Amino acid sequence: MIEKHQTEPIYSIQLKQSSYVVGVAAGRFPYLLHWGASIPAVTREDGPGRPPLRAFEVADFPEGDASSSSLPVEYALFGGADYRAPSVLVRDREGAPRSTLELLESTVQSGPPELSALPGVDAAEEHLSFLFRVAETGLRLVLTYAALPEIDVVLRHVRLENRSDDPAAAYSVERLMSVTVPVEAGRGGAGRAPGGAAHQAAAAGAGAPAAGSGWELLTLDGAHARERYPHRTALRPGTTAIGSRRGSSSHRHTPWAALVPPDTSEHRGEAYGVGLLYSGDFLIEAEVDEEGACRMNAGLHPDTTRFTLAPGEAVDAPQCALGFSRDGLNGLSHCFHGLVADYLTPAAWRGRPRPVLLNSWEAAYFDVTEADILEIGRTGAQLGVELLVLDDGWFGERNDDTTSLGDWQVNRKKLPGGLERLAGGIHELRLQFGLWVEPEMVSRDSELYRAHPDWCLHVAGEPRLESRNQLVLDLSRAEVRDWMADWLTELIDRVGIDYIKWDMNRYLSNVGSAVAPAGRQAEVPYRYMEGLYAVLGLVTERFPEVLFEGCSGGGGRFDLGMMPYFPQYWTSDNTDAVSRLPIQYGSSYLFPQAAVGAHVTSVPNHQVGRSAPLGFRSMVAMAGNWGFELDPRELSEREAAIIRAEIGWYREHRALLQFGSFYRLENPLVSYSRESSWLVVSRDRSEAVAFWFRPFAEANRRGVRWRLAGLDPDRYYRGSYMRTEEVSSGSREEHDLGGPLSGAELMHRGLPLPPMEQDYAGIRLHLRADAHL
Ligand code: DGJ
Repeated sequence: MIEKHQTEPIYSIQLKQSSYVVGVAAGRFPYLLHWGASIPAVTREDGPGRPPLRAFEVADFPEGDASSSSLPVEYALFGGADYRAPSVLVRDREGAPRSTLELLESTVQSGPPELSALPGVDAAEEHLSFLFRVAETGLRLVLTYAALPEIDVVLRHVRLENRSDDPAAAYSVERLMSVTVPVEAGRGGAGRAPGGAAHQAAAAGAGAPAAGSGWELLTLDGAHARERYPHRTALRPGTTAIGSRRGSSSHRHTPWAALVPPDTSEHRGEAYGVGLLYSGDFLIEAEVDEEGACRMNAGLHPDTTRFTLAPGEAVDAPQCALGFSRDGLNGLSHCFHGLVADYLTPAAWRGRPRPVLLNSWEAAYFDVTEADILEIGRTGAQLGVELLVLDDGWFGERNDDTTSLGDWQVNRKKLPGGLERLAGGIHELRLQFGLWVEPEMVSRDSELYRAHPDWCLHVAGEPRLESRNQLVLDLSRAEVRDWMADWLTELIDRVGIDYIKWDMNRYLSNVGSAVAPAGRQAEVPYRYMEGLYAVLGLVTERFPEVLFEGCSGGGGRFDLGMMPYFPQYWTSDNTDAVSRLPIQYGSSYLFPQAAVGAHVTSVPNHQVGRSAPLGFRSMVAMAGNWGFELDPRELSEREAAIIRAEIGWYREHRALLQFGSFYRLENPLVSYSRESSWLVVSRDRSEAVAFWFRPFAEANRRGVRWRLAGLDPDRYYRGSYMRTEEVSSGSREEHDLGGPLSGAELMHRGLPLPPMEQDYAGIRLHLRADAHL
């Protein structure tokens, strides 16, 4: 609910457990009065409903006073006396920065805000918008706010329009952020060393306590095959930033960050999250000033993405989701899990069980034949698999990664009956049929490239840099988008495909277009993303029943912007179970488990050579959307029996595992032995499955207490468990936990785990509330 102040342009956005209060001061400064735990709506000047103690008074900063650099403004144009990193840098045709806003109107309207061509949530019941004029220009700035109260998420959106009548009045937009979020000096106090462990370590290293903001920043960072490790660091004076100039959000950083006081833990304390609904170049920065106050910006990366705004034109920054929780980082994850599961995931796939899939990649790589794939499908079906995915290698002359991207005709030497006969054969096995494609790419060695050499991104006079032997198609071009949407639609229709894996295996370079209007090459990174979202929107809406899985060399470009098209995403090319512990743990900060693809693969593992036992591999993958990527014909009888039983177990508990509330319990990056634990709890808290792992044994360790979370403290639970080594040995005997045990005891006292003196130890515990107690 959005409530307006009686007289002033102050609006209180009231969510389930939080309030977001924003106003405009002096008609010029949009500013944040409060974002955090719920407070009464600010509706009157006196008595109940009066504004909270204001962070500042307008009178404190007369025009021209450089002190505006410390105001908690919500959006700032560069050029005046606010010297912090701005939200927008816009220059007139003389090159002068234009910075002064004038509020024209503020309104609350029903329904969601008008969205741009970029991904957005269209479910809000009402929205607030501020319309500003940039003084003495035809530029208009529209800031909108919509709320998803149930999940404590505020959605912000920014549009810059040139409404000038003068045809020569073009502006250059050199920086465009989706949000600016000011936060006051944090709980550690301005200018003092915050108490967080990370900060103390940093300060100790420097030999003296450093001045800090009292805030810590958590980001998800990594590389190919090491995606989304969580990093938490104390903010020091100056700017801490993550971003991407790679044309996609990348494996390196995820366009999401959390700001927390040092004492916030997984389950306690305040946590503020900022997530961009965008998959291209981005910047998220946190700037701490001399008082310890912090300002965060999140939006388009200004190094790569700039615009010319001619009269009549507008540009939209990506939508940004702001989440708040008082229940620590795990509580914040629930805000974003709710956003993904209930708002971003395509409607047909919300809460819909995802099939157990078997993917051909690690089984066959490029060496696919009709007979082999059918055999793999037949053997998989006997194990209980539900979907067979034919990965790379089925088209053109694709025998390795040097050729044929763009030539999406089936290779008849490999599949003589075409995809239709293969799909028919797979369907006869009562399996769904899935197919891999990489639509955004073209190989230099392809019919497509020979016919349309200018269809790839390139800059005249620069070499066309290849990566994995491929170039990137120019999706800013309408004919390229049409071609792509046409062949995909025709293919899915003709073959009868149930699932598509949409891959993207390189970053963008030489990002220019043969058709960009004069002077507008710097818009191409953004126009590429607009084009990509347009094709994705078209194809996924045309086939709502087809399950689309995103992929980008594993878990690159796994971000909120992809979630409206892909109900699930391939989390990482690294399928080693030990390596997957931190990858899945980190991914869980932002993504619910149904979105996180996790496969059991063969050993020795193809990425790291490790041979983890089957029980361990199977249980670790259950943190995500569970499947297989191996040749089932190579399994021993014992292994096949284990997998058949594990699939049965998974299918029985699938609804809970895929859609229950997720709780992180132990961070695998903390201990030498990589101890790791999580659990999922049903929405009514009557059922839970918990996992605990210690991949590397350590000598002379005592048993540990395993403290759970998310249960009902007042209910009693009974449970049964199995160990990884029992699953690996083929035993299916569940051990009775004893009890009943109260939820409070399981969470606050914990279960004693005995010492485990072998590698790859682990436990899977199933709990059910006792109906009679
Ligand atoms: C990269 C993906 O991450 C893999 O799973 C596989 O699909 C290959 N591409 C195929 O080329």
